[in-house]
Amino acid sequence: MACFFRRRIAAQLGRTMRLCEDAFIPALSAVPVFKKQQTADLRLSINMLRDNGVLPSIGDIRAQTEHLARQLKQDSVVEEITAESAVIYFRFNRKLLAQKILEPLRMGGNSKFGLNSELLKSLKRGLTLVEYSSPNIAKKFHAGHLRSTIIGNFIANLKQSLGNKVIRMNYLGDWGLQFGLLGVGFRQFGSQEQLKQNPLQHLFEVYVKVNQEAEHNEDTRLAARDFFRQLEHHESGAVSLWQQFRDITVSEYRHVYKRLGLDFDVYSGESFHQERVQEVVQQLQDGGLLKTTEKGAGVVDLSAAQDMSTVSTVLRSDGTSLYITRDIAAAIDRKEQYHFDEMIYVTDKSQTNHFQQLFQILQAMGHSWADRCHHVTFGLVQGMKTRGGEVVFLEDVLDEARARMLHNMKQSKTTKEMDDAEDTAQKVGISALIVQDFKGPLQSGYKFDWDTMLQAQGDTGVFLQYTHARVCSLIQRNDNIDAATFDPSLLTEPSSIAILQHLLRYDEALYQSAQDLQPKHLLNFLLKLCHLIASAHRELPVKGSPQEVAQARLRLFSGSGSVLADGMRILGITPVDKM
Ligand code: ARG
Repeated sequence: MACFFRRRIAAQLGRTMRLCEDAFIPALSAVPVFKKQQTADLRLSINMLRDNGVLPSIGDIRAQTEHLARQLKQDSVVEEITAESAVIYFRFNRKLLAQKILEPLRMGGNSKFGLNSELLKSLKRGLTLVEYSSPNIAKKFHAGHLRSTIIGNFIANLKQSLGNKVIRMNYLGDWGLQFGLLGVGFRQFGSQEQLKQNPLQHLFEVYVKVNQEAEHNEDTRLAARDFFRQLEHHESGAVSLWQQFRDITVSEYRHVYKRLGLDFDVYSGESFHQERVQEVVQQLQDGGLLKTTEKGAGVVDLSAAQDMSTVSTVLRSDGTSLYITRDIAAAIDRKEQYHFDEMIYVTDKSQTNHFQQLFQILQAMGHSWADRCHHVTFGLVQGMKTRGGEVVFLEDVLDEARARMLHNMKQSKTTKEMDDAEDTAQKVGISALIVQDFKGPLQSGYKFDWDTMLQAQGDTGVFLQYTHARVCSLIQRNDNIDAATFDPSLLTEPSSIAILQHLLRYDEALYQSAQDLQPKHLLNFLLKLCHLIASAHRELPVKGSPQEVAQARLRLFSGSGSVLADGMRILGITPVDKM
């Protein structure tokens, strides 16, 4: 696999240059595959070696490249070494390429392919707390929450496969003035009956109604403030109603997340850090960080000149806490409870300021670990609608994705007979949502479009799933062929080589995604893999080929299928075997 070849070249470079071979690893990368074009396998960037101080940055870089290339020797592994401007290219023995890549790969088995690469070894490991999804009780689950959910899940999966311990946390919006309103609203418009039958829907309706009421009714607003004050003072009547809303919401969400194929280790929430809030305010006070405004609110001055030109309000004049106060307390609590090495928050970019202020306040309080807290942001999604109209609940999107996919599957002539078509439609529909979302940089927004995302051709989640299912069916149809042993010298056609060369890049794609936490690197790798598998499928028949050729080809397909499945799982997609 990739690490064997990279090591091999790095070792030779190390010997030749009398330097530690590890210094060359970051400058070696797989050559991207272009259709029908025979290329070298790995390349060495002389620019990178210069930048990293491995080679002196003086003199003509071309001459330096050629000089180095001339010193390197071809052998039974590296069959060709060529220099071109500031890059040295290496081409490996074809049989070895197939053997080293495919040997550790078996379809279905969790291969850990690519994960032991030295490129990935250089990444820091530890305990990562990822906080994502974090919807608000009784409010709409909007497109931003959906994005946070799938992006956070991807980050958690990625970190985990790279060898980190991961805590997946959902931080519910379960506190604040809106619970005053909800409490008052429920007493006025609520029904226990409906709450049991359709909890999310009912809470949402009550919340909408009471908000309308509060707009023109001063008494409602006062009652809401009073209810929230009761909550903050742990008065039992208010608390037990609130607790019921929370419990019911969590159990509903668990259920829906399961459909999405994900789960959380902790359902925390803004309410969890009540005790800590007072303490935090006290600490801010003791540290001289808390200022009081004329109106009596407690603020932290964040301006460089300390002239109150930028402040963050942490305490209302009536003594109740705010979103940021709870976040400060939550961060400190989590650090103490979990001893994370890094913490990642995933929300849309409208909260950029909030998190900057949060990290700044934590620093000012002397929590140096605040620089290991990161905010991963993403842009806005427009037009997430279902046939029924606006999306209010996560379930609406999932239902729509499943229904549309099921419809498409029924229309398509290639759809297979299957036991649970609904379940397959669900999984494929979700892949479509995820792929649409992960294709570009997360910071940019996009227009939500059911038709485009559900297309079977083109770079969609349906195409990923279709390719995976096709490989599975190929293996199944040829289950009389045992590909446990195979002759790697039989995989020399351009379309075999292209797949093998592309597989050399898998760890690089993971590495890039680990660096900037953007799923697009991994996703684009997988989409390209699917295109290469499709060409190979056309050009390299298994049925009807001589036994040994069939064996080797089957091994190529099952190997690439298993990398595809691994990668899909990291993205948060459950591969289907049939569709
Ligand atoms: N519930 C919030 C919202 O819907 C997101 C929470 C983000 N996390 C945090 N620690 N503030 O906007």
